[in-house]
Amino acid sequence: MLRGRRVVLGVTGGVAAYKAAYLARRLVEAGAEVRAIMTPSARHFIGPHTLTAITGTPVITDLFSGVSPHTELARWADIIVIAPATAATIGRIANGVSSNALAATVLASERPLVVAPAMHTEMWEHPATQRNMETLRADGVTVVGPAVGDLAGGDVGLGRLADPDEIAEVVSAVLAAGRDLAGRSFIVTAGGTREPIDPVRYIGNRSSGKMGFAIATEAARRGADVRLVTTVEYSDVEAGVEVIAIETAAEMADAVWSRAGDVDAVVMAAAVADFRPSTARSDKIKRSTEGLDTIGLEPTEDVLAGVVAMDPRPVVVGFAAEAGDLSDAARKAKEKGVDLLVANDIARPGSGFGSDTNEVTVIDREGSEDRWEMMSKTEVASRLLDRIRDLMA
Ligand code: CTP
Repeated sequence: MLRGRRVVLGVTGGVAAYKAAYLARRLVEAGAEVRAIMTPSARHFIGPHTLTAITGTPVITDLFSGVSPHTELARWADIIVIAPATAATIGRIANGVSSNALAATVLASERPLVVAPAMHTEMWEHPATQRNMETLRADGVTVVGPAVGDLAGGDVGLGRLADPDEIAEVVSAVLAAGRDLAGRSFIVTAGGTREPIDPVRYIGNRSSGKMGFAIATEAARRGADVRLVTTVEYSDVEAGVEVIAIETAAEMADAVWSRAGDVDAVVMAAAVADFRPSTARSDKIKRSTEGLDTIGLEPTEDVLAGVVAMDPRPVVVGFAAEAGDLSDAARKAKEKGVDLLVANDIARPGSGFGSDTNEVTVIDREGSEDRWEMMSKTEVASRLLDRIRDLMA
């Protein structure tokens, strides 16, 4: 389960910090890529070079090194594990205080978090620590330990770091639980199609492709095989996503229809043109000699309808961009014959084209509507994939 997975290991300032070196080694041996972050006080207990040598990548110790190490690491990670976690770090994370590189990375991340506390019994049992732990659990954080045993300064009691082997197992189990789409295959479309007028000009739209990219990325992270049919190029594509670059509605139809018979679900997040110029000129139209005052149009292939008509057919999810009024969406879901229709109001701030967030209403075949509050496109993707997973079952 750890092979090829990306683990951010956070190390904080407690005596047990030396055990983080062993944990890092276990994770690397199991095939994980590990990048470590140390808090300033962790450096009193273990040298950064130890972790650099074990992980093969420089340890991050400073929030102000590089351009934005916390957001870069947060996006890179499949999971974050903090071992050992001091009371101070637990307090920071429970309260969203991003005052060092580790806490900032946790705050910038939407990935699962595993925390292995280690501290003196008195500190562990203090109401403030227990309150913070309750907050972490309520936020969905997985907690390992602490265990009972020898503590610093000759004390014995509750507060010892859980066994590093056990922490590695928990990391693996949390990753496994997140692989609920293993063995499933998806086609996801993204971006706006470009319909040529001549070799340099086209009719297009404002779709950024971010929603489709988020769905493809999340599905792959959860173990699915994904083909992303897209008009947009992406720099950081998840392993498990095969990118099929296309430009026009006709090419998208080709790419989707030729593969849809072999997949479990097709998610049509792309903004496909409804019309294209009926003749695309092979030479550039000159302003001086010919000009152009009309463009003749013809309808494009309805990619979605083609998939819905297949028998047997995969689970089909359509998107509808509406400006202002979503009341039409339930009718549309039925008419299109999709299993789910994701309607978003592109007129709302923070929703629709180019934005990193989205506020959508999801409508099923029976017309029942589920209105989701504003959330990141990654979060929309993950909730949508939960619905698709349930439909595939
Ligand atoms: N779609 C498609 N092929 C097209 C056009 C759209 O597969 N030629 C898909 C889109 O990917 C999306 C859904 O159909 O999933 C879009 O529906 P919508 O935006 O509501 O488009 P229309 O049905 O054309 O509705 P409207 O009349 O509001 O434009």
